[in-house]
Amino acid sequence: MNQQANSPNAVLLSAAMVVLAGVLAAGQSFAQASPVASYTTAQAERGKKAYTDACSGCHGDKMEGDGDRALPLAADQFNSQWLGRPVIGKWNFMVMNMPFDKPGELPKETYSDIMAYIMQFNGIPAGDEPFPIAPAANLLIQRRR
Ligand code: HEC
Repeated sequence: MNQQANSPNAVLLSAAMVVLAGVLAAGQSFAQASPVASYTTAQAERGKKAYTDACSGCHGDKMEGDGDRALPLAADQFNSQWLGRPVIGKWNFMVMNMPFDKPGELPKETYSDIMAYIMQFNGIPAGDEPFPIAPAANLLIQRRR
């Protein structure tokens, strides 16, 4: 009688352990498999021009922001809000909402170029791989060590 009454708990416990193991495994593969964003020098050069034309009016020549709602895209703000995180959040926000006065007006390639310029401006060195026009959900912005 007692043993039978216990068995549903045992089933629940082992189910919980399976879920926990799955969560741990997912966390591990995320940390191991996350690719690091790269960009080319050519992208950053095009991006500098596009940024100057379409973004600097609000975000500033030095990406310092307007001191109001148009946040800085460099320095402390970059280090705390962009570095070490998947870029997809900022990417989607930028592609859908920026330039603030004409959202989504730029071609995807131009948003990639601007992303390259933001990375370059923040001291991340250029590489061989371009910044993609459709970043993977786990693509990280990171300084290479
Ligand atoms: C007319 C002014 C204006 C222009 C032009 C503009 N922005 Fe913005 N940007 C803003 C404002 C205002 C916000 C904050 C929006 C909000 O909080 O909803 C913002 C937010 C952002 C953010 C999010 C920052 C963060 O840390 O979350 C990014 C990235 C960004 N802008 C990039 C760009 C890029 C790239 C361009 C040029 C293609 C651009 N913006 C052009 C006003 C502007």
